[in-house]
Amino acid sequence: MPAADISSSPAGGGHGQTVCVTGAGGFIASWIVKLLLARGYSVRGTVRNLEDPKNEHLRELEGAKERLTLWEADLLDYNSLGRAISGCHGVFHAACPITDDPDNLKEQMLRPAVDGTKNVITAASAAKVRRVVFTSSVGAVYMDANRSTDVVMDESYWSDLEYCKDTKVYMNWYCYGKTVAEQTAWKLAKELAVDLVAVNPVVVLGPLLQSSVNASSVHILKYLAGWVNTYANAVQGYVHVRDVARAHVLVFEAQSASGRYLCVDSVIHRGEVVDILAEMFPEYPLPTKCSDEKNPRAKPHKFNCQKLKELGLEFTPVKQCLYETVKSLQEKGHLVTLPNKQH
Ligand SMILES: NC(=O)c1ccc[n+]([C@@H]2O[C@H](COP(=O)([O-])OP(=O)(O)OC[C@H]3O[C@@H](n4cnc5c(N)ncnc54)[C@H](OP(=O)(O)O)[C@@H]3O)[C@@H](O)[C@H]2O)c1
Repeated sequence: MPAADISSSPAGGGHGQTVCVTGAGGFIASWIVKLLLARGYSVRGTVRNLEDPKNEHLRELEGAKERLTLWEADLLDYNSLGRAISGCHGVFHAACPITDDPDNLKEQMLRPAVDGTKNVITAASAAKVRRVVFTSSVGAVYMDANRSTDVVMDESYWSDLEYCKDTKVYMNWYCYGKTVAEQTAWKLAKELAVDLVAVNPVVVLGPLLQSSVNASSVHILKYLAGWVNTYANAVQGYVHVRDVARAHVLVFEAQSASGRYLCVDSVIHRGEVVDILAEMFPEYPLPTKCSDEKNPRAKPHKFNCQKLKELGLEFTPVKQCLYETVKSLQEKGHLVTLPNKQH
């Protein structure tokens, strides 16, 4: 089935099914909830604080009044997760802290990522759900100093934990946490006979449904808002948030889906990102220089996403993805709208 059909088919695939989405108010999870509601599912979204106005956007989604309930749950509190998951047909485990504080990484990131995943899988096993879809990351796939950029990575590749730890760059710690969390998920799912499928996206961009800015949107905002004078000599993969949500629902619905699914549209150099942004939005003070002019330009990693494409996913081109990200940042008031020099 083509990806475009997944949200538009009126009956949807979810009629009569209840699913739980952890961390429902987050950037990616909000889009998963939106798509699940459009597909006819009844959705239980977990949030850490039911009173927090930052989750209000969920109540505005189409179908939310009839089929969305919010449940208070913390990843480190098994009972709260158990209550939300009990009686569900499936679980989408998207909640995970994304912290930039290297000193407190263990407490802030590793415990919720790893122990929280254990709690989710255990609760899913107790509830006898049909399938758990785990939002992993390409960070659990590509981090390996000894791997040439000529290698085309597929779902069989894993990040090297020692390398993640040793480079001491905070996002590498995040990759460490996601790798350990995913490995833990696979081990426990096997022990408990839980049907687990993982989606491994690169940096996710696109329109925000929530009012706050999440980490991957800041990745683009920093260039437009003039917070940086240069761009790094680095490459990055990008994918549209709608495509990531579709990937989650596709792997849940396709009976034949199994294992990991790389979710990558394109991998480009930061220099190309700022060039695309400058072409579409020349009114912003985008950096024009690389912070490293000595070393050769970093080469892009190569990924094979055939597995997801075979399930019917068509990726949104990166230019469209960047355009929609900027428009959304403007509309949500995170980026001042300046007169466009092109018009
Ligand atoms: N964005 C990307 O580029 C990207 C790429 C690859 C993979 N991912 C993965 O995708 C998932 C969602 O990321 P996102 O970008 O949507 O992040 P996000 O907007 O920051 O959402 C993260 C969610 O996790 C929840 N959470 C954090 N710690 C929790 C805890 N202890 N208990 C319960 N909930 C907790 C947060 O709740 P609060 O609102 O209460 O903090 C929030 O709802 C994560 O697993 C992330 O690793 C993201």
